[in-house]
Amino acid sequence: MRALDLIQKKKEGKEHTKEEIYFLIENYLSGKIEDYQMSAWLMAVCFQGLTPRETAYLTQSFVESGEVLDFSNISPYIADKHSTGGVGDKVTLVLIPVLASLGVYSAKLSGRGLGFTGGTIDKLESIPGFCVELKNEDFLNQIKDIKAAISSQSPNLTPADGKIYALRDVTATVDNKSLICASVVSKKIASGATSIVLDVKYGSGAFLKTVQEAKELAKLMTDTAKLLNKNIDVVISSMEQPLGLCVGNALEVIESIEFLKGKYEKDLYEITFELAAKTLINCKIAKDKKEAKELFDSVINNSKALDKLKQIIKAQKGNVEVIDDYSLFNLGKNIKEIKAPKEGYISKLDALCVAHCAKLLGAGRDKKSDPVDYGAGVVLSKKIGDYTKKDETIAQLYFNDLDKERINEAINEINKAFEISDNIPNSVELIAK
Ligand code: URA
Repeated sequence: MRALDLIQKKKEGKEHTKEEIYFLIENYLSGKIEDYQMSAWLMAVCFQGLTPRETAYLTQSFVESGEVLDFSNISPYIADKHSTGGVGDKVTLVLIPVLASLGVYSAKLSGRGLGFTGGTIDKLESIPGFCVELKNEDFLNQIKDIKAAISSQSPNLTPADGKIYALRDVTATVDNKSLICASVVSKKIASGATSIVLDVKYGSGAFLKTVQEAKELAKLMTDTAKLLNKNIDVVISSMEQPLGLCVGNALEVIESIEFLKGKYEKDLYEITFELAAKTLINCKIAKDKKEAKELFDSVINNSKALDKLKQIIKAQKGNVEVIDDYSLFNLGKNIKEIKAPKEGYISKLDALCVAHCAKLLGAGRDKKSDPVDYGAGVVLSKKIGDYTKKDETIAQLYFNDLDKERINEAINEINKAFEISDNIPNSVELIAK
Protein backbone atom coordinates (compact mmCIF):
# COMPACT_ATOMS: atom_id res chain seq x y z
CA MET A 1 0.00 0.00 0.00
CA ARG A 2 1.24 3.52 -0.78
CA ALA A 3 0.11 6.84 0.69
CA LEU A 4 0.13 8.33 -2.82
CA ASP A 5 -2.49 5.82 -4.04
CA LEU A 6 -4.69 6.45 -1.01
CA ILE A 7 -4.56 10.22 -1.57
CA GLN A 8 -5.55 9.62 -5.20
CA LYS A 9 -8.36 7.26 -4.11
CA LYS A 10 -9.85 9.84 -1.75
CA LYS A 11 -9.39 12.58 -4.33
CA GLU A 12 -11.62 10.48 -6.62
CA GLY A 13 -14.21 10.20 -3.83
CA LYS A 14 -13.83 6.44 -3.31
CA GLU A 15 -14.38 4.71 0.04
CA HIS A 16 -11.35 3.48 2.01
CA THR A 17 -11.20 0.09 3.69
CA LYS A 18 -10.40 -0.24 7.40
CA GLU A 19 -6.88 -1.44 6.50
CA GLU A 20 -6.27 1.64 4.35
CA ILE A 21 -7.34 4.05 7.10
CA TYR A 22 -5.17 2.24 9.66
CA PHE A 23 -2.23 2.23 7.20
CA LEU A 24 -2.46 6.02 6.82
CA ILE A 25 -2.78 6.74 10.52
CA GLU A 26 -0.17 4.26 11.79
CA ASN A 27 2.41 5.31 9.21
CA TYR A 28 1.82 8.99 9.76
CA LEU A 29 2.26 8.55 13.49
CA SER A 30 5.49 6.61 13.04
CA GLY A 31 6.85 9.27 10.65
CA LYS A 32 6.83 7.05 7.52
CA ILE A 33 4.18 9.27 5.97
CA GLU A 34 5.25 12.91 5.83
CA ASP A 35 3.23 15.99 6.80
CA TYR A 36 2.77 16.97 3.14
CA GLN A 37 1.14 13.66 2.22
CA MET A 38 -1.13 13.67 5.26
CA SER A 39 -2.06 17.29 4.46
CA ALA A 40 -3.01 16.29 0.91
CA TRP A 41 -5.13 13.41 2.19
CA LEU A 42 -6.86 15.65 4.76
CA MET A 43 -7.64 18.18 2.05
CA ALA A 44 -9.07 15.41 -0.16
CA VAL A 45 -11.26 14.40 2.81
CA CYS A 46 -12.47 18.00 3.12
CA PHE A 47 -13.59 17.96 -0.52
CA GLN A 48 -14.87 14.39 -0.82
CA GLY A 49 -15.91 13.56 2.77
CA LEU A 50 -15.73 10.26 4.62
CA THR A 51 -18.60 7.81 4.89
CA PRO A 52 -19.95 7.00 8.40
CA ARG A 53 -18.06 3.70 8.17
CA GLU A 54 -14.76 5.41 7.29
CA THR A 55 -15.39 7.93 10.09
CA ALA A 56 -15.82 5.09 12.60
CA TYR A 57 -12.58 3.43 11.39
CA LEU A 58 -10.72 6.74 11.65
CA THR A 59 -12.06 7.30 15.17
CA GLN A 60 -11.12 3.77 16.18
CA SER A 61 -7.64 4.11 14.69
CA PHE A 62 -7.10 7.29 16.75
CA VAL A 63 -8.25 5.51 19.93
CA GLU A 64 -6.01 2.52 19.21
CA SER A 65 -2.98 4.74 18.53
CA GLY A 66 -2.66 5.02 22.33
CA GLU A 67 -4.04 3.66 25.58
CA VAL A 68 -7.59 3.82 26.94
CA LEU A 69 -7.82 4.91 30.56
CA ASP A 70 -9.71 2.76 33.02
CA PHE A 71 -11.27 4.33 36.09
CA SER A 72 -13.46 1.39 37.05
CA ASN A 73 -11.66 0.99 40.38
CA ILE A 74 -12.18 4.68 41.24
CA SER A 75 -15.83 5.33 40.47
CA PRO A 76 -18.61 4.03 38.22
CA TYR A 77 -19.16 7.64 37.08
CA ILE A 78 -16.40 9.58 35.35
CA ALA A 79 -17.34 12.77 33.55
CA ASP A 80 -15.85 14.40 30.48
CA LYS A 81 -17.04 17.17 28.17
CA HIS A 82 -15.89 18.63 24.91
CA SER A 83 -16.75 21.52 22.67
CA THR A 84 -16.37 21.39 18.91
CA GLY A 85 -14.61 24.74 19.11
CA GLY A 86 -15.62 28.33 19.59
CA VAL A 87 -14.52 31.85 20.40
CA GLY A 88 -14.23 32.84 24.06
CA ASP A 89 -15.32 29.31 24.98
CA LYS A 90 -13.90 28.92 28.48
CA VAL A 91 -16.64 26.56 29.71
CA THR A 92 -14.20 23.78 30.69
CA LEU A 93 -12.34 26.09 33.07
CA VAL A 94 -15.55 26.69 35.02
CA LEU A 95 -17.36 23.41 34.54
CA ILE A 96 -14.64 20.99 35.68
CA PRO A 97 -14.05 22.70 39.08
CA VAL A 98 -17.83 22.95 39.59
CA LEU A 99 -18.38 19.25 38.86
CA ALA A 100 -15.41 18.07 40.91
CA SER A 101 -16.46 20.22 43.88
CA LEU A 102 -19.83 18.45 43.73
CA GLY A 103 -18.14 15.06 43.91
CA VAL A 104 -18.05 14.18 40.20
CA TYR A 105 -14.77 12.60 39.08
CA SER A 106 -13.81 14.63 36.01
CA ALA A 107 -11.23 13.44 33.48
CA LYS A 108 -10.79 16.16 30.89
CA LEU A 109 -8.62 15.71 27.84
CA SER A 110 -8.33 18.98 25.98
CA GLY A 111 -6.65 20.43 22.91
CA ARG A 112 -4.80 23.55 21.85
CA GLY A 113 -6.25 26.33 19.71
CA LEU A 114 -7.50 25.00 16.40
CA GLY A 115 -7.96 27.23 13.36
CA PHE A 116 -9.45 30.48 14.61
CA THR A 117 -10.83 28.91 17.81
CA GLY A 118 -9.16 28.87 21.21
CA GLY A 119 -8.06 25.75 23.08
CA THR A 120 -8.17 24.94 26.79
CA ILE A 121 -4.56 23.76 26.84
CA ASP A 122 -3.22 27.10 25.55
CA LYS A 123 -5.44 28.89 28.08
CA LEU A 124 -4.11 26.83 30.99
CA GLU A 125 -0.53 27.37 29.85
CA SER A 126 -1.04 31.08 30.50
CA ILE A 127 -0.92 30.20 34.23
CA PRO A 128 2.79 30.36 35.13
CA GLY A 129 4.18 26.86 35.72
CA PHE A 130 0.96 24.99 34.87
CA CYS A 131 1.78 21.52 33.52
CA VAL A 132 -0.64 20.58 30.72
CA GLU A 133 0.95 17.29 29.78
CA LEU A 134 0.22 14.70 32.45
CA LYS A 135 1.45 11.14 32.13
CA ASN A 136 -1.44 8.68 32.20
CA GLU A 137 -0.47 7.52 35.67
CA ASP A 138 -0.34 11.09 37.02
CA PHE A 139 -3.67 11.92 35.33
CA LEU A 140 -5.31 8.91 37.03
CA ASN A 141 -3.71 9.63 40.42
CA GLN A 142 -4.72 13.28 40.36
CA ILE A 143 -8.32 12.33 39.59
CA LYS A 144 -8.24 9.83 42.44
CA ASP A 145 -6.84 12.49 44.82
CA ILE A 146 -8.77 15.65 43.95
CA LYS A 147 -11.45 14.36 41.55
CA ALA A 148 -10.27 16.40 38.56
CA ALA A 149 -7.47 16.78 36.05
CA ILE A 150 -7.23 18.65 32.74
CA SER A 151 -4.54 17.42 30.40
CA SER A 152 -3.53 17.45 26.76
CA GLN A 153 -3.13 14.17 24.96
CA SER A 154 -0.02 12.58 26.41
CA PRO A 155 2.14 10.69 23.92
CA ASN A 156 0.13 7.61 24.87
CA LEU A 157 -3.44 8.99 24.68
CA THR A 158 -4.82 9.36 21.14
CA PRO A 159 -1.39 10.48 19.88
CA ALA A 160 -2.60 10.16 16.27
CA ASP A 161 -5.24 12.82 16.90
CA GLY A 162 -2.65 15.00 18.61
CA LYS A 163 -0.37 14.95 15.57
CA ILE A 164 -3.16 15.34 13.00
CA TYR A 165 -4.89 18.06 15.06
CA ALA A 166 -1.75 20.22 14.93
CA LEU A 167 -1.50 19.66 11.17
CA ARG A 168 -5.19 20.47 10.53
CA ASP A 169 -4.76 23.69 12.47
CA VAL A 170 -2.33 25.08 9.88
CA THR A 171 -3.59 23.47 6.65
CA ALA A 172 -7.19 24.77 6.62
CA THR A 173 -8.50 21.23 7.10
CA VAL A 174 -10.41 21.72 10.33
CA ASP A 175 -14.00 22.23 9.24
CA ASN A 176 -14.92 18.74 8.12
CA LYS A 177 -17.55 16.85 10.13
CA SER A 178 -15.82 13.46 9.97
CA LEU A 179 -12.45 14.89 11.00
CA ILE A 180 -14.03 16.79 13.90
CA CYS A 181 -16.00 13.70 14.93
CA ALA A 182 -12.95 11.38 14.92
CA SER A 183 -10.87 13.94 16.81
CA VAL A 184 -13.43 14.64 19.53
CA VAL A 185 -14.97 11.18 19.97
CA SER A 186 -11.60 9.37 20.05
CA LYS A 187 -10.37 11.61 22.89
CA LYS A 188 -13.57 11.05 24.83
CA ILE A 189 -13.34 7.29 24.46
CA ALA A 190 -9.66 7.24 25.45
CA SER A 191 -10.30 9.37 28.53
CA GLY A 192 -12.28 6.47 29.98
CA ALA A 193 -15.28 8.66 30.87
CA THR A 194 -18.73 7.18 31.41
CA SER A 195 -20.66 10.47 31.19
CA ILE A 196 -19.70 12.41 28.07
CA VAL A 197 -21.39 15.67 27.14
CA LEU A 198 -20.53 17.41 23.88
CA ASP A 199 -21.20 21.03 23.06
CA VAL A 200 -21.64 21.22 19.30
CA LYS A 201 -21.34 24.80 18.16
CA TYR A 202 -22.69 26.51 15.08
CA GLY A 203 -22.49 30.07 13.77
CA SER A 204 -19.91 32.55 12.64
CA GLY A 205 -17.38 31.60 15.34
CA ALA A 206 -17.78 27.83 14.91
CA PHE A 207 -16.45 25.44 12.27
CA LEU A 208 -20.02 24.67 11.20
CA LYS A 209 -22.06 27.68 10.24
CA THR A 210 -25.69 26.45 10.46
CA VAL A 211 -27.84 24.63 13.02
CA GLN A 212 -28.57 22.00 10.39
CA GLU A 213 -24.84 21.22 9.97
CA ALA A 214 -24.42 21.14 13.77
CA LYS A 215 -27.29 18.64 13.99
CA GLU A 216 -25.65 16.46 11.34
CA LEU A 217 -22.34 16.55 13.25
CA ALA A 218 -24.15 15.74 16.51
CA LYS A 219 -25.77 12.71 14.88
CA LEU A 220 -22.49 11.56 13.32
CA MET A 221 -20.79 11.81 16.72
CA THR A 222 -23.50 9.99 18.67
CA ASP A 223 -23.72 7.25 15.97
CA THR A 224 -19.93 6.84 15.83
CA ALA A 225 -19.66 6.68 19.62
CA LYS A 226 -22.44 4.08 19.71
CA LEU A 227 -20.59 1.92 17.18
CA LEU A 228 -17.64 2.07 19.59
CA ASN A 229 -19.92 1.23 22.56
CA LYS A 230 -20.16 4.69 24.14
CA ASN A 231 -23.22 6.83 24.76
CA ILE A 232 -22.79 10.54 24.52
CA ASP A 233 -25.09 13.51 25.20
CA VAL A 234 -25.05 16.51 22.91
CA VAL A 235 -26.01 20.14 23.37
CA ILE A 236 -26.19 22.33 20.25
CA SER A 237 -25.37 25.96 20.92
CA SER A 238 -24.89 29.21 19.03
CA MET A 239 -21.49 30.78 18.48
CA GLU A 240 -22.64 33.85 16.54
CA GLN A 241 -21.03 36.11 19.15
CA PRO A 242 -18.17 35.16 21.52
CA LEU A 243 -19.06 33.47 24.81
CA GLY A 244 -18.63 35.83 27.73
CA LEU A 245 -16.51 38.95 27.37
CA CYS A 246 -12.91 37.80 26.96
CA VAL A 247 -11.16 36.20 23.98
CA GLY A 248 -7.49 35.28 24.42
CA ASN A 249 -5.75 32.81 26.68
CA ALA A 250 -4.91 34.57 29.96
CA LEU A 251 -7.90 36.87 29.63
CA GLU A 252 -10.21 33.86 29.43
CA VAL A 253 -8.66 32.25 32.50
CA ILE A 254 -9.24 35.50 34.39
CA GLU A 255 -12.89 35.57 33.26
CA SER A 256 -13.28 31.97 34.45
CA ILE A 257 -11.80 32.80 37.86
CA GLU A 258 -14.22 35.74 38.09
CA PHE A 259 -17.09 33.36 37.28
CA LEU A 260 -16.05 31.09 40.14
CA LYS A 261 -15.94 34.19 42.38
CA GLY A 262 -19.58 34.82 41.43
CA LYS A 263 -19.27 37.37 38.63
CA TYR A 264 -20.34 36.08 35.23
CA GLU A 265 -21.99 36.83 31.91
CA LYS A 266 -25.42 35.33 31.35
CA ASP A 267 -24.49 33.35 28.21
CA LEU A 268 -21.47 31.71 29.82
CA TYR A 269 -23.59 30.77 32.83
CA GLU A 270 -26.36 29.34 30.65
CA ILE A 271 -24.21 26.99 28.61
CA THR A 272 -21.99 25.94 31.52
CA PHE A 273 -25.05 25.15 33.62
CA GLU A 274 -26.69 23.17 30.79
CA LEU A 275 -23.63 20.92 30.47
CA ALA A 276 -23.28 20.64 34.26
CA ALA A 277 -26.94 19.67 34.68
CA LYS A 278 -26.68 16.86 32.13
CA THR A 279 -23.53 15.55 33.81
CA LEU A 280 -24.90 15.80 37.37
CA ILE A 281 -28.02 13.88 36.32
CA ASN A 282 -25.99 11.25 34.39
CA CYS A 283 -23.72 10.75 37.41
CA LYS A 284 -26.71 10.47 39.79
CA ILE A 285 -25.67 13.53 41.82
CA ALA A 286 -28.86 15.44 40.94
CA LYS A 287 -32.26 13.92 40.24
CA ASP A 288 -33.40 16.72 37.93
CA LYS A 289 -32.45 20.13 36.51
CA LYS A 290 -33.93 22.00 39.49
CA GLU A 291 -31.72 20.16 41.94
CA ALA A 292 -28.76 20.54 39.57
CA LYS A 293 -29.26 24.32 39.59
CA GLU A 294 -29.30 24.48 43.40
CA LEU A 295 -26.10 22.46 43.55
CA PHE A 296 -24.41 24.46 40.79
CA ASP A 297 -25.20 27.80 42.45
CA SER A 298 -24.23 26.54 45.90
CA VAL A 299 -20.62 25.74 44.95
CA ILE A 300 -20.23 29.12 43.28
CA ASN A 301 -21.69 30.94 46.30
CA ASN A 302 -19.68 29.04 48.93
CA SER A 303 -16.43 29.21 46.85
CA LYS A 304 -16.03 25.43 46.79
CA ALA A 305 -15.66 25.48 43.00
CA LEU A 306 -13.01 28.20 43.24
CA ASP A 307 -11.16 26.13 45.87
CA LYS A 308 -11.30 23.18 43.49
CA LEU A 309 -9.74 25.25 40.71
CA LYS A 310 -6.96 26.18 43.15
CA GLN A 311 -6.42 22.49 43.90
CA ILE A 312 -6.22 21.68 40.19
CA ILE A 313 -3.71 24.50 39.56
CA LYS A 314 -1.62 23.39 42.54
CA ALA A 315 -1.69 19.70 41.57
CA GLN A 316 -0.56 20.63 38.04
CA LYS A 317 2.26 22.80 39.39
CA GLY A 318 0.79 26.16 38.41
CA ASN A 319 1.12 29.32 40.46
CA VAL A 320 -2.06 29.44 42.61
CA GLU A 321 -1.45 33.09 43.45
CA VAL A 322 -2.90 34.02 40.04
CA ILE A 323 -6.34 33.50 41.58
CA ASP A 324 -5.93 36.69 43.63
CA ASP A 325 -3.28 38.53 41.64
CA TYR A 326 -4.04 38.84 37.92
CA SER A 327 -0.82 40.80 37.32
CA LEU A 328 0.97 37.41 37.44
CA PHE A 329 -0.58 36.60 34.06
CA ASN A 330 1.65 38.92 32.01
CA LEU A 331 -1.22 40.46 30.09
CA GLY A 332 -0.37 42.46 26.96
CA LYS A 333 1.37 45.66 27.98
CA ASN A 334 -0.51 47.77 25.40
CA ILE A 335 -4.26 48.32 25.61
CA LYS A 336 -6.10 49.92 22.69
CA GLU A 337 -9.63 51.15 23.41
CA ILE A 338 -12.13 50.69 20.59
CA LYS A 339 -14.91 53.28 20.58
CA ALA A 340 -18.44 53.08 19.19
CA PRO A 341 -18.68 55.06 15.93
CA LYS A 342 -22.31 56.00 16.73
CA GLU A 343 -24.96 55.46 19.37
CA GLY A 344 -27.49 52.62 19.26
CA TYR A 345 -27.94 48.93 20.06
CA ILE A 346 -25.29 46.34 19.24
CA SER A 347 -27.12 44.28 16.62
CA LYS A 348 -24.21 42.07 15.54
CA LEU A 349 -20.95 40.99 17.16
CA ASP A 350 -19.32 38.63 14.70
CA ALA A 351 -17.40 35.96 16.60
CA LEU A 352 -15.18 35.15 13.62
CA CYS A 353 -13.98 38.76 13.27
CA VAL A 354 -13.27 38.88 17.01
CA ALA A 355 -11.30 35.62 16.69
CA HIS A 356 -9.31 37.00 13.73
CA CYS A 357 -8.59 40.13 15.74
CA ALA A 358 -7.34 38.09 18.74
CA LYS A 359 -5.19 35.95 16.45
CA LEU A 360 -3.64 39.02 14.81
CA LEU A 361 -2.82 40.32 18.29
CA GLY A 362 -0.86 37.10 18.91
CA ALA A 363 -3.37 34.87 20.72
CA GLY A 364 -3.28 32.06 18.08
CA ARG A 365 -0.98 30.36 15.59
CA ASP A 366 -0.52 30.56 11.80
CA LYS A 367 2.15 27.84 11.69
CA LYS A 368 2.64 24.78 13.94
CA SER A 369 5.84 26.25 15.35
CA ASP A 370 4.39 29.74 16.03
CA PRO A 371 4.60 30.85 19.66
CA VAL A 372 1.39 32.06 21.29
CA ASP A 373 1.26 35.32 23.23
CA TYR A 374 -0.79 34.22 26.24
CA GLY A 375 -1.37 37.82 27.31
CA ALA A 376 -2.88 38.97 23.99
CA GLY A 377 -6.58 39.19 23.22
CA VAL A 378 -9.81 41.13 23.27
CA VAL A 379 -12.06 42.23 26.12
CA LEU A 380 -15.55 43.12 24.96
CA SER A 381 -17.46 45.80 26.84
CA LYS A 382 -20.68 45.30 24.88
CA LYS A 383 -22.57 42.31 23.55
CA ILE A 384 -25.55 41.90 21.24
CA GLY A 385 -28.56 43.83 22.58
CA ASP A 386 -26.49 46.26 24.69
CA TYR A 387 -26.89 49.98 24.16
CA THR A 388 -23.87 52.16 23.49
CA LYS A 389 -23.36 55.90 23.32
CA LYS A 390 -21.21 57.34 20.52
CA ASP A 391 -17.50 57.11 21.50
CA GLU A 392 -18.17 54.77 24.42
CA THR A 393 -15.61 51.93 24.70
CA ILE A 394 -17.00 48.77 23.10
CA ALA A 395 -13.83 46.67 23.30
CA GLN A 396 -10.22 46.71 24.45
CA LEU A 397 -7.35 45.07 22.59
CA TYR A 398 -4.42 43.67 24.62
CA PHE A 399 -1.12 43.12 22.85
CA ASN A 400 2.66 43.28 23.16
CA ASP A 401 5.23 44.30 20.55
CA LEU A 402 3.53 44.21 17.16
CA ASP A 403 4.17 46.15 13.98
CA LYS A 404 1.81 48.98 13.16
CA GLU A 405 0.35 47.21 10.13
CA ARG A 406 -0.70 44.20 12.21
CA ILE A 407 -2.25 46.41 14.90
CA ASN A 408 -4.23 48.25 12.21
CA GLU A 409 -5.43 44.95 10.73
CA ALA A 410 -6.58 43.85 14.20
CA ILE A 411 -8.41 47.16 14.73
CA ASN A 412 -10.04 46.74 11.34
CA GLU A 413 -11.27 43.24 12.28
CA ILE A 414 -12.78 44.34 15.60
CA ASN A 415 -14.51 47.28 13.93
CA LYS A 416 -15.93 44.86 11.34
CA ALA A 417 -17.25 42.63 14.16
CA PHE A 418 -19.67 45.25 15.52
CA GLU A 419 -22.88 46.46 13.93
CA ILE A 420 -24.90 49.15 15.68
CA SER A 421 -28.54 49.79 14.90
CA ASP A 422 -31.29 52.14 16.07
CA ASN A 423 -33.56 49.25 17.04
CA ILE A 424 -33.25 46.59 19.74
CA PRO A 425 -32.23 43.40 17.87
CA ASN A 426 -34.18 40.14 18.20
CA SER A 427 -32.61 37.99 20.90
CA VAL A 428 -30.64 34.96 19.73
CA GLU A 429 -31.41 31.58 21.29
CA LEU A 430 -28.10 30.38 22.82
CA ILE A 431 -29.06 26.73 23.15
CA ALA A 432 -30.71 25.36 20.05
CA LYS A 433 -31.30 21.79 21.22
N1 URA B 1 -12.07 19.91 19.10
C1 URA B 1 -11.28 18.84 18.85
O1 URA B 1 -10.74 18.24 19.78
N2 URA B 1 -11.12 18.45 17.59
C2 URA B 1 -11.70 19.07 16.55
O2 URA B 1 -11.51 18.64 15.42
C3 URA B 1 -12.52 20.19 16.80
C4 URA B 1 -12.69 20.60 18.10
